[in-house]
Amino acid sequence: MSAQASTELQMLEGEAARRRTFAIISHPDAGKTTLTEKLLLYGGQLREAGQVQARGGRRNAVSDWTELEQTRGISVTSTSMRFEHAGTMLNLLDTPGHRDFSEDTLRVLAAADSAVILLDAARGVQEQTRMLFEVARARGLPLITFINKFDRPGMEPLEMLDHIETELNLRPAPLTWPVGSGGEFRGLIDRRTDRAIALDRTPRGAQAAHAETASAQTMADDPHWAAALEESELVSGAGEAFDEAAFLSGTCTPVLFGSAMWNFGISELLDVIVTHAPPPQPRFQVDGQAREVGAPFSAQVFKVQANTDPRHRDRLAFLRVCSGRFERGMRVTNVRTGRPITLAHVHEVFGRDRGELLEAWPGDVMGVSGVRELRVGDTVAVAADTSPFRAIATLVPEHLVTAHAVDSSKRKQFRRGLEQLDEEGVVHLLSRLSVDDRVPTLGAVGQLQLEVCLHRMRTEFGCEIRLDPTPWTVTRRVDASEVDKVLNFDRAEAFRRGDGATIAAFADAYRLRRFIQLHPEVELTRLLGDVPATVLQ
Ligand code: G4P
Repeated sequence: MSAQASTELQMLEGEAARRRTFAIISHPDAGKTTLTEKLLLYGGQLREAGQVQARGGRRNAVSDWTELEQTRGISVTSTSMRFEHAGTMLNLLDTPGHRDFSEDTLRVLAAADSAVILLDAARGVQEQTRMLFEVARARGLPLITFINKFDRPGMEPLEMLDHIETELNLRPAPLTWPVGSGGEFRGLIDRRTDRAIALDRTPRGAQAAHAETASAQTMADDPHWAAALEESELVSGAGEAFDEAAFLSGTCTPVLFGSAMWNFGISELLDVIVTHAPPPQPRFQVDGQAREVGAPFSAQVFKVQANTDPRHRDRLAFLRVCSGRFERGMRVTNVRTGRPITLAHVHEVFGRDRGELLEAWPGDVMGVSGVRELRVGDTVAVAADTSPFRAIATLVPEHLVTAHAVDSSKRKQFRRGLEQLDEEGVVHLLSRLSVDDRVPTLGAVGQLQLEVCLHRMRTEFGCEIRLDPTPWTVTRRVDASEVDKVLNFDRAEAFRRGDGATIAAFADAYRLRRFIQLHPEVELTRLLGDVPATVLQ
């Protein structure tokens, strides 16, 4: 290798090593907006609180839909935010909290190297988001747990650890320990340094509500601190130590307590992300090889979004850089189609604002506009013969409907519109395998996806559509070689997606169970893509 190439590689590896690309997964209302805002304040991206508005008010389906109506896209704020802390570049990937858009969240998780599980101290792991946690865990994604709202009455910390262990099947390793809770929440013991961090409840705007004392032991005269110290020692005695290797392989989660609202415990969280969350790792390709971050430029599309903003009426493809360095104007190949693409219009997207992105490194997110052919899962690379990255896992769509153009003269718009929404991942366009049916079937994980589809077909493609129910209510992924068994079963159907994946659909859960009894050898899963088949059967 020439001296210049070696310097470039060193620089590339250095830039990759100082990046942390992570997502926050939580149940709506757990405090993700508040936490995001506080993290951005630390990174100097926001000057005052209250600026991360777009995600506020999305706490139920109704307000979600209002937001959708206004913006004509799903999970419009699901982009990335970049900020720097202690010399580390943090790429925070936003995820929609609403269950109906869990598919989006899964795609975002595929672009992240780690995730923060944000729990409400009073509620813990909630049903709606359990699936996301399971998928994150199944993918072996390193997970950091932040227990929020400790300034309000909630579960006892020991109870919370137990809850995490049973609900998430992860070994919790508390790095901080709360002193009191609710109205009596006094502060935190930093178990790594034995520091006491007292909560100062005087309003301080953007500043952290910290008042530090030297050692936690010096606080032992106060009964709250004494009790917390005792508990913390009890936990140490029980062997709940943080194990870096287990964290990186996704079996142990560091746990931090705090309050996003009071900006308390956040700097400790940031510190854990910077110190322990992994930098970009080699990514697996379909040929089974792992592509090193130092390899020539390559990136994978994890999200496509149209009309995110009335000021920018175009379509943005979000790519995560997997290897190499991106420079503006670079020529790459879309490995799926073999076609060349010039990356001329590349943006850094921050909430709804955009800036031009001149260069990017592994772990960074690029918003590419003006390239219509990019689809979710596509790999782009400078070398045309690069093996594509593995497919991104999504959930098997469970709502199946048939789509019809209300005005039959609009067949062209109808087809084109549905194909585009399929490419963006808004809905799954499916074809029936038992009959040569020209009526397309649409699949969605959440009902709201179908509403987005109706709305966008009308407003963007000028085509009013009608969605009719189908007799199938339970779906699973099935291997193409087993499709005949499904088709021969009572009131069952099989479908194929554009990418060749096959889906079995049953009339009800009873018939699914019967099918499993009859054909125990057929593997049925609830996920499409790169997650081990053993999960979520
Ligand atoms: P989300 O994005 O996950 O949906 O949650 P968000 O941050 O919007 O927070 C949901 C509610 O919880 C908000 O209250 C927020 O102020 C509150 N909250 C967030 N973190 C904490 C915390 O650490 N302690 C306490 N006590 N509350 C917290 P809201 O009343 O629904 O809205 P707002 O009027 O306060 O904005």
